[in-house]
Amino acid sequence: MTPPVRQIIITQEQLRQRVRELAQEIRQQYKGEELVLVSILKGAFVFLSDLMREIQLDVEVGFLYLSSYRGETQSQGEVEEYLLPFPRLAGRHVLIVEDILDSGASIAYAYQRCQQLNPLSLRVCVLLNKQGVFRDEPPLIDYKGFDIPNVFVVGYGLDYREKYRHLPYIAEPITEQGNGDEKE
Ligand code: IMP
Ligand code: MG
Repeated sequence: MTPPVRQIIITQEQLRQRVRELAQEIRQQYKGEELVLVSILKGAFVFLSDLMREIQLDVEVGFLYLSSYRGETQSQGEVEEYLLPFPRLAGRHVLIVEDILDSGASIAYAYQRCQQLNPLSLRVCVLLNKQGVFRDEPPLIDYKGFDIPNVFVVGYGLDYREKYRHLPYIAEPITEQGNGDEKE
């Protein structure tokens, strides 16, 4: 299959390298501690699986299933949660792992949701930060992989209408309208 990709924005090698660096920063921060990684489905599962294998600490994983995109290329700003079993967070170090920061609504939701469960500490790790997006109250990010331009991207877990999550790189797709410029 030839994916309809207009441009690769981050290569597989760049992802591998940066994930390794982030894991190292996280390992130093939590030295010897146990950590709960709370990942946001579906987009972040590829990033999570690579990151957790590089951290080299005892980690437990938990998932929040949030939807704000509903298959389109623009964020709806409203977050819906599909309930899943959730790990016990009280008194534990918790790190939210997310694929991309767009409007910020998903991370803000996840942060509040975790905070209510009284973790010992709560931090946020996001792979991609879309630059130039207006955010009322931008969420605080502790670990960031890459800044990218404000374009719609797919691959490495991120989808366009549920496709292209399997691509091993981050790319700008050719969407139905044909030019990939629809995001703004
Ligand atoms: P936010 O809540 O607006 O920050 O959006 C975050 C969620 O929207 C992410 O968890 C992604 O699932 C999805 N998303 C945001 N930007 C993109 C993109 O460029 N491609 C694919 N999904 C995206
Ligand atoms: Mg997501």
